[in-house]
Amino acid sequence: METVRIFDTTLRDGEQSPGATLTLPEKVEIARQLEALGVDIIEAGFPIASNGDFESVRAVAAEVTKSTVCGLSRCTPKDVERAGEAIKDAKSGRVHVFCATSKIHRDFKLKKAKEDIIRISVESIRQARGYTDDVEFSPEDASRTEMEFLEEIVQAAIEAGATTINLPDTVGYATPKGYGEIFSHLIKKLPIIREKNIILSSHCHNDLGMAVANSLAAVEGGARQIECTINGIGERAGNAALEEIVMMLKTRNDFYKINTRIDATKIFPTSRMVSTLTGLVVQRNKAIVGQNAFAHESGIHQDGVLKYRETYEIMDPAHVGIPANSLVLGKHSGRHAFKDRVAQLGFTLSEEQLESAFHKFKALADKKKEVFDEDIEAIVDEQLEVETALWELVGLQVTAGSNTIPTATVSLKDSNGEIQQDASIGDGPVDAIYSAIARLTGVKGSLQDYRIRAVTKGKEAQGEVQIELNHSGKIVRGRGLSTDILEASALAYLSAINRLRTAASREKLVTQHASV
Ligand code: KIV
Ligand code: ZN
Repeated sequence: METVRIFDTTLRDGEQSPGATLTLPEKVEIARQLEALGVDIIEAGFPIASNGDFESVRAVAAEVTKSTVCGLSRCTPKDVERAGEAIKDAKSGRVHVFCATSKIHRDFKLKKAKEDIIRISVESIRQARGYTDDVEFSPEDASRTEMEFLEEIVQAAIEAGATTINLPDTVGYATPKGYGEIFSHLIKKLPIIREKNIILSSHCHNDLGMAVANSLAAVEGGARQIECTINGIGERAGNAALEEIVMMLKTRNDFYKINTRIDATKIFPTSRMVSTLTGLVVQRNKAIVGQNAFAHESGIHQDGVLKYRETYEIMDPAHVGIPANSLVLGKHSGRHAFKDRVAQLGFTLSEEQLESAFHKFKALADKKKEVFDEDIEAIVDEQLEVETALWELVGLQVTAGSNTIPTATVSLKDSNGEIQQDASIGDGPVDAIYSAIARLTGVKGSLQDYRIRAVTKGKEAQGEVQIELNHSGKIVRGRGLSTDILEASALAYLSAINRLRTAASREKLVTQHASV
């Protein structure tokens, strides 16, 4: 049976979700998990965007050996050079070159004629081939490009050395029938696709909720690579969701008769990891990985499932890696059990990180009887953040209550190890804490969103605070966890400030995307 390649762009298009900025260690952690999941290609970033993006792609390229590691590039010599340099040490590396081709993008964004677009695309593909034999070309906004021009540029790109041609539905505008026909038409019209064994690829955005349906229609039309993200995260309404595509191809293999190399039992832990590290919560009713995806509320359904599971369940939750019951750790659990659990959740920490995470686990287990998977994920997330943190919270004292002016005294350790302390009053305790932190760090943002929830059940549960901070138009998110919700609030604010550095590159990336 044929296979379709799964090209995961969680770390590139997925990270373009507002507020989803990831640090380098977080990206490497996700890349390791994507490799274990069995994705064929990992698009690890856009190396020209910033040094941070370049270093992340390089770090992923150095770490991953089973999947191909890909870097994105516009059609400029500097872009291609950065992408080529970033992937050059990968065991298997790809450069992905893109240039917009639709009339609306040509006229209003690029202000370039068709001939110029073909010329710069061909030059860039040739340059990319100097770094690797594996070059992908995307005529951006392909689904809104005139068919004749699409044929012309695809032919030219293949002749220049592109080995994969990706046809993006950049704005989520396509219908399944129309999108599938682009693939079947090009295969029929351009013999070079068959002669050179060129892989055609889909890349669908979800603006009208059609990304997965369109991707599957592309496969029916002849696509043999699907670009997608975990939990469907990505620009605006997101990209096609990997878990939905993979499980559709698996569950309805009788119809599609095509396989992927994905180990479906790793889907759920990967979804959890991406959600924890990006801070993008998975909606409860999300197909495959949502909390309600396998929950049966109606009595008739429950009765049916108890008599014969398949009456109302088309997939076995165990097949996508949903544990039947979660193991609970406590204060008597030792290093070995903790290490084991961290590995089962898909994380690979260094010995030093594990030791520090274990101490945090012990401290938490002293405060709360049962430590759940969600608690362990949060500890590991914090561990990955600490590596790149500029400021660390070392002390917090808050006075609040009726007839009292809320006051917070905050002590922070900076990256040189120096401790600084300041105090502030505020409208409430959280406002007082945030004012004190803003004074100490010199970073003042406006709070766009503040959410608090209990991570697990029980009154001893940890409180999780998630915030969104707007700093000069940049949106960054922060997450803090503690059994003390004021401490969790302070940690969330600091985590957002620490991420601002990475977010600066995100802004640069978005501007560059718009201008070339
Ligand atoms: O959506 C899009 O067109 C893209 C390209 C860069 C492939 O993300
Ligand atoms: Zn995209």
